[in-house]
Amino acid sequence: MERFLFVFFAALAACNANAISARQGSFNTYHLYTSQNIRIPTAIPPTEAAIRVSDINPNLKTVIVVHGHGGSMGTSLNPLVKDALLTREDVNVIVVDWSVFASQSYSNAVTAVPSVGTFLAGFISQAVIAEKVSLATLHLVGFDLGAHVVGFAGRVLNGNVARITGLNPSDSQWGSNSQRLSISDARYVEVIHTDSGLMFSNGIHDAIGHVDFYVNGGNNQPGCFYNNGCSHNRSWEVFAASLTHDHLIGNLCGTWLQISLNTCRSFTLPMGTNDLEKIGSGMYRVNTGRTYPY
Ligand SMILES: *[C@@H]1O[C@H](CO)[C@@H](O)[C@H](O)[C@H]1NC(C)=O
Repeated sequence: MERFLFVFFAALAACNANAISARQGSFNTYHLYTSQNIRIPTAIPPTEAAIRVSDINPNLKTVIVVHGHGGSMGTSLNPLVKDALLTREDVNVIVVDWSVFASQSYSNAVTAVPSVGTFLAGFISQAVIAEKVSLATLHLVGFDLGAHVVGFAGRVLNGNVARITGLNPSDSQWGSNSQRLSISDARYVEVIHTDSGLMFSNGIHDAIGHVDFYVNGGNNQPGCFYNNGCSHNRSWEVFAASLTHDHLIGNLCGTWLQISLNTCRSFTLPMGTNDLEKIGSGMYRVNTGRTYPY
């Protein structure tokens, strides 16, 4: 059987380059952190058998974190968000590493996104079959291209994941891409915009979730002095701060003008957190300081 599969894939690869690219997600690796295992993660192979004997605690919520272009499991996003999650509650945190493709050119990384997301959905399906994870208590968090990765994963799982949080989802090649992260990818989709709407912004400016938070108007974060990378990173920094402090409260806005003029005065909603029963819709502005916890 294995030999047959090998010949089969080799034949596919030979006649169709897309057959290779569709396998990009097979290079994903999955790393589990728990309150018993905060520093050194355990790698979990994406098979039902391996997941079944893993230390994932099925009685806890699970949060899966996906890095973006140029990232890896070691990128600061992961330790910061993982530590913030585990200080506040007992959860399973699974960090996905897709650095084999994320470390390539931006357009190669973009090409890998559908496959990386589809394989992530495969991992999650195996975890559900192994009765270690339930979609009702699952939160997918993705930064930059990782936001679209979790969008794909959510779509493959029929939008039944409890929550997706998109941290400044990448804009380039996604601005008008119908496969970008969208409202139907999970029961609740929250997007945190920190570097969007300006000429060199990394992130999508459109409101694409159930709730979209525009942090300090959605660009040029305090202390970043028009450094786009700094404002882009602020999306995971404020998300981590929301996990430890739950203090960043947005106000519902009616118009883009209100967002940019900071005149949103309507309903309030806490930004971020690991709340899986959040309800809300619309665009919110949240104002923050310049240093952690913002
Ligand atoms: C953003 O975060 C990454 C990963 O931690 C880091 O390498 C990079 O220098 C940061 N960019 C800026 C502009 O701070």
